[in-house]
Amino acid sequence: MYQTKIAGLGSYVPENVVTNDDLSKVMDTNDAWIQERTGITERRHIKKGDGNSTAVMGMKAAKVALERSGISKDDIDLIVFATLSPDYYFPGCGVQVQEMLDIHTCPALDVRNQCSGFIYALSVADQFIKTGMYKNVLVIGSENHSGGLDFTTRGRGVSVIFGDGAGAAVLTQSDHNGQGILSTHLHSEGKHALELSLKGPSTMHWVPEIIAENPQGDDIPYYPYMNGQFVFKNAVVRFSEVIMEGLQANGLEVKDIDMLIPHQANLRISQFIQQKFKLEDDQVYNNIQKYGNTTAASIPIALTEAWEEGKVKEGDTVVLAAFGSGFTWASAVIKW
Ligand code: ACO
Repeated sequence: MYQTKIAGLGSYVPENVVTNDDLSKVMDTNDAWIQERTGITERRHIKKGDGNSTAVMGMKAAKVALERSGISKDDIDLIVFATLSPDYYFPGCGVQVQEMLDIHTCPALDVRNQCSGFIYALSVADQFIKTGMYKNVLVIGSENHSGGLDFTTRGRGVSVIFGDGAGAAVLTQSDHNGQGILSTHLHSEGKHALELSLKGPSTMHWVPEIIAENPQGDDIPYYPYMNGQFVFKNAVVRFSEVIMEGLQANGLEVKDIDMLIPHQANLRISQFIQQKFKLEDDQVYNNIQKYGNTTAASIPIALTEAWEEGKVKEGDTVVLAAFGSGFTWASAVIKW
C-alpha cells in the first residue's frame, strides 16, 4: 500500500472585489447584518468579460499547483474536479481543464458534493494512489456562484454568503513514511437533500416549464434555497463528529491538531468549533472574511493561503473538515 502526499498547492480568485456595501446598493442588506451573521466583509465575483468561469478558474489554480509540485502535466494520471457550479450541465469541468492544460487522455471526473466536494475529491484521489493504480492526481475545487445567485432582496439570505474562486492540489505517491494523507472520512444524509439545494434547471425542471409555471417570474426554482438555521445546527454537530472521527482513527487527540482548516461556511460555525475544541486562534485558519463561502473551493484556497503564510509546516498535523448540501460532511487528516 502506498501513501498520498500533497506535492503542490495553488489558488485563484477573480480580481473583482464585492464588498457588503456594494451588495447593499442592489438589495436590502447592510454590512452590519452580514458581518454579524457570517463574518464576511467582502467576496470576489467573476466580472462579465474577464474570461473566467468555473473551469477557467480551476485551470488557473491547477497551473500554480502543478508549477509548485515540480510534476509535469504530462505525468498526471487522473483529474478530479469538485464543483456545484459547472460551466455546462454536461460534460463536467474535469475534461475542460484537461483540454485547457493540454493534458493527455488520462481519466477526468467531476465530483458533485458541494461544500464537502474537495475532501470527497481528495479521498477519491487518495484511494487510486494508495492502491498503486495512479501516481499523480490533480484535484481541483472551483465555483462560480455569482453567475447563479439572486441579487435582489428576495435572495439576500443566500446571495450575500457565497463567492467565486478556485483551489487545487497535486497529489503524488510517497514512500510509506507516515507523511501525507493519513485518512479521509466521508458521510452523507440524503433525507435533508432539499434543505440546501438548487432544483433547476434540471431534468425535473426544464427552463420552458419553469417559465410556463412562473409567468410573473416569482418563486423561481433556479436560485438556491437554504434553510439557514437548520443548516447551521446540523453543521456544528457534523463538523465536530467528523473531526473527532478523523483524530480517533489515527490515535490522535484534539491537542495534536497543529492546524484545522474548516470549510469556510460561516465564520460563526468555525468559531463554534474552535470554542468547542478549545483551540487557539493559530490552530484554526479562516479566510471567509475576504472570500465568502466558495463551497468546494474554500478548503483548497484556505489550505494554499495557510501554506503560503508558513502556517502549515513540515511535520504538522493538519485536519480538513467540511459540511454542506446533501447533507454531506467529511474530514481528512494529513501529516504535512
Ligand atoms: N441582510 C439583511 N437582512 C437579512 C438578510 C440580509 N442579507 N438575509 C436575511 N435577512 C433577514 C431575514 O429576512 C429575517 O428578517 P425577519 O426577521 O424580518 O423575517 C432576519 O434577517 C433573520 O433571518 P434568518 O434567516 O433567520 O437569519 P439567521 O440569523 O438564521 O442567519 C444565516 C442567516 C447567516 C444564513 C445563518 O442561518 C447561517 O449562517 N446558516 C448556515 C449557512 C451555511 O453555513 N451554509 C453552508 C453550507 S453552503 C453549501 O453547502 C453550498
